[in-house]
Amino acid sequence: MGEAREIEAPKDRLGVLMSGMGAVATTFMAGIELVKKGLAEPVGSLTQIGTVRLGKRTEDRSPKIRDFVPLQSAGDLVFGGWDALPDDAYEAAVAAGVLEKDHLNAVRNDLKEIRPMLAVFDPRYVHRLSATHVREYGSLREAIELVREDIRAFKRDHGLERVVMVNCASTEAYAQPREAHFTLENFERALDRSDPAVSPAMIYAYAALMEDVPYANGAPSLAVDIPALTQLAGARGVPIAGKDFKTGQTWMKTVIAPGLKARMLGLEGWFSANILGNRDGEVLEDPESLKSKEVSKLSVLEHILQPGLYPELYDDISHVVKINYYPPRGDAKEGWDNIDIYGWLGYPMQIKVNFLARDSILAAPMVLDLALFLDLAQRANMGGIQEWLSFYFKSPMTLPELYPEHDLFIQLMKLKNTLRTIMGEEVIHHTGLDYYE
Ligand SMILES: NC(=O)c1ccc[n+]([C@@H]2O[C@H](COP(=O)([O-])OP(=O)(O)OC[C@H]3O[C@@H](n4cnc5c(N)ncnc54)[C@H](O)[C@@H]3O)[C@@H](O)[C@H]2O)c1
Repeated sequence: MGEAREIEAPKDRLGVLMSGMGAVATTFMAGIELVKKGLAEPVGSLTQIGTVRLGKRTEDRSPKIRDFVPLQSAGDLVFGGWDALPDDAYEAAVAAGVLEKDHLNAVRNDLKEIRPMLAVFDPRYVHRLSATHVREYGSLREAIELVREDIRAFKRDHGLERVVMVNCASTEAYAQPREAHFTLENFERALDRSDPAVSPAMIYAYAALMEDVPYANGAPSLAVDIPALTQLAGARGVPIAGKDFKTGQTWMKTVIAPGLKARMLGLEGWFSANILGNRDGEVLEDPESLKSKEVSKLSVLEHILQPGLYPELYDDISHVVKINYYPPRGDAKEGWDNIDIYGWLGYPMQIKVNFLARDSILAAPMVLDLALFLDLAQRANMGGIQEWLSFYFKSPMTLPELYPEHDLFIQLMKLKNTLRTIMGEEVIHHTGLDYYE
């Protein structure tokens, strides 16, 4: 057994700030309030329902994760955030159309109290949104100061010592890291000259890091994953994770693709189509925002299947992802996957997946888990990139010299083994040979 890390106990309450309080954020907050009232179960949350096996299979030790690691109780969260629309969390939840009336009515008063702070918004990054609830600022430095002050005020008003931030804002236009993002000095200079290369998502992330607030990026937007901010998080010892919640189709992909590879079956092509009708879908109608999402979705197969190692199975895969905005569906997204595989002697077969999902129902428990795990990481003195949280993301962050792990089962093992390690328990490697010796 290794040595357990010293982890401060989670005293008092934990603040969860969300940049963007739309469908995902309100479904998360409403869900927590419903669970607190005993009106629903936190289905989909590893921190609330998941267990972790400790020691040998003969020991019969499988505590709940939340009983094994010192996590903040989900009932002790305090919510806040920013939005480019003025709706309080109840109005935003009604507009999002995810939860049913009975559920919304039961938590109406709790949600009504949560009003968004004014957003740092730049229409160059999100085009299809009539933002009316936005901050006036003269320079990017000023914008950062305003967000930092918002964080401090939120802590003061609620008497909080610890806060985490989760980016749940609309997907920004596609951007790749460029000169202004490469180093912290470049980034600071870009702030000084209010360079348009600095997006709102980066401003929230930078403000969070400067306030020592752990940060997770649930959107595909370029944010804390630029080298400058990753460097800043490392230097300040603030935990970060991202990006783009792995909820529906990509989650399925990272379940099925490892299965194909495990059996050494070939893949000729994978065609994925989606329809969705929520505001996220509307924003994604803009080709620049859509590109951010598509790039994020496309990366997983190549990393899982490793065509370099298995050219006879995975060379030249045709991988196509289409996302279409179709208003009648609202948040009830539908995805179709056609997977052309081949087996022994190259004989072709097909797999079809038709997933009738609910986007925010799948994403909400991830916001909860990320908030609790990032807070744990901070109390355990684990700063910088939290690769063990790859489980939650379509485009997991890693050090530049490492390739990301996309296989859901490797990600889960990584997560649980990290928990075992920080608690001084042995990692589980599943050889099982010792039982037979
Ligand atoms: N729901 C899912 O399954 C899922 C999965 C992966 C990623 N995501 C990502 O999560 C994010 C949120 O999704 P959603 O369905 O809640 O979308 P949404 O459109 O319902 O909510 C986004 C909110 O962000 C606000 N916003 C936009 N720019 C802002 C800014 N600069 N500052 C503050 N607020 C801003 C919008 O006004 C809106 O209320 C999106 O980027 C989406 O792509 C969602």
